[in-house]
Amino acid sequence: MSYKRAMSTNNPEDAVELVAAARRAAEAAYAPYSNFRVGAVAVAPDGRRFVGVNVENAAYGSTICAEAAAIAAAATAGLRQIDTIAVGCLSATECYPCGNCRQLMREFGVARVIVQDAEHGVREHTLEELLPHSFGPESLS
Ligand code: THU
Repeated sequence: MSYKRAMSTNNPEDAVELVAAARRAAEAAYAPYSNFRVGAVAVAPDGRRFVGVNVENAAYGSTICAEAAAIAAAATAGLRQIDTIAVGCLSATECYPCGNCRQLMREFGVARVIVQDAEHGVREHTLEELLPHSFGPESLS
């Protein structure tokens, strides 16, 4: 897999491996309506990983994104800081996190977002790149 760095604090091998793990997780996605299967991995500061998949619903608006599921799994384990989110999908070449998921990442201080790109490589971004001028917890104080 090729690697394109936007801005990075970590090594590319890690990024490629994390997207591969997200794609493996996506095998378990529950996406009978869109058939768009997404997986995500949330990485804690200590390296622990929490995976999530998209979980759709007959009431479409009740769908949970893969990134949201991974963040919820991390929060359930007690995490309040998440370093990295990796996203992979099986049904398209590229899948960037939706706006709502970018905001969920913002809450937990995600620094790095890794996505697969159209050439079967990975791309790495800061959350600041994906969600500039954002609103976060400190905005309320
Ligand atoms: N989806 C995600 O899981 N993450 C995203 O960031 C974008 C969209 C899911 C939601 C829905 O189940 C399917 O992809 C199509 O929108």
